[in-house]
Amino acid sequence: MRRLIVFFGTLLLSACEGRQSVLYPAGRDAQDVLALIWLMFGGAVLLWFLLGVIFVYVTRVKPREMPRRWGEALIIGGGVIFPVILLGALLTYSLPMMKPQRAAEEGLKAHITAEQWWWRVEYELPDGRRITSANELRLPTGRRTGLVLNAHKVIHAFWVPALGGKVDMIPGRETYLSFLPEEPGIYRGQCAEFCGASHALMAFETVVMTPENYEAWLKAEAADAAKPASGEAYRGAEVFAREGCGGCHTVRGTQAQGQVGPDLTHVGSRKSLGAGILAMSEDDLSRFIAHTEEIKPEVAMPGYDHLTPDDLRALAAYLKGLT
Ligand code: CUA
Repeated sequence: MRRLIVFFGTLLLSACEGRQSVLYPAGRDAQDVLALIWLMFGGAVLLWFLLGVIFVYVTRVKPREMPRRWGEALIIGGGVIFPVILLGALLTYSLPMMKPQRAAEEGLKAHITAEQWWWRVEYELPDGRRITSANELRLPTGRRTGLVLNAHKVIHAFWVPALGGKVDMIPGRETYLSFLPEEPGIYRGQCAEFCGASHALMAFETVVMTPENYEAWLKAEAADAAKPASGEAYRGAEVFAREGCGGCHTVRGTQAQGQVGPDLTHVGSRKSLGAGILAMSEDDLSRFIAHTEEIKPEVAMPGYDHLTPDDLRALAAYLKGLT
């Protein structure tokens, strides 16, 4: 009994965290989803209760045979007419909700491509130019951002429970979702379709900002990478070049123009590392670079554990300085 209490108590407590929960909506679309959840849940409880009452009545209170006419009326009424009315009403209520959530043509636009196991994020500017980033999505409050979703190699699913619904990401086929965030904050997103060994390690942060902060951030994100600001960071840039990191990663404004892995132009300003699994700190950066495959099984990047601790520290200082 005590174990049960601890188990369910922990479950309840863990549900209190609002960063990744449909129960704590931070945007218009998630509010709609939550309203639908409560409506369905309330309806299900009501129906369950009603059936219980009928069951007790016919088996315990008045267990007698029913006239054939009554039985037929019960089957046609309760089995055909009632569900048609109920499901019809539910459809009428819920179908229009899908339309704004699927919109891709209005307002701001971002393209998100699911890779194994990280997220390629491209912000489309009004002139059609794209700013590439990775593993973090930034959105302004009060404006709808259309998300164009795609995947490379296998199917993934895009889900930020606090902001809206969930949509599959399918190789070779665009799908759409859009968010209208209302509360600034940081909300966790998670890949919601099994996509290989590191599926559970494929997360990201969605940073919702005021429109002014968002505009300022987007301007900074569009700029080229910062130059190394210390001797150590400068040495780190040399290690980065020497080890051929630029063959897979882009750091805009430098020779590194690789397209295989995440864009690192402003990696140091992101909230997390490795697609939502580590802190953005120099310690975690050098740990991730040295032991990539151990931390994220079957990922394409090999671990660089042949680097000396000094080289790793310098590389981490360089990357952390790319804000
Ligand atoms: Cu990507 Cu699961």
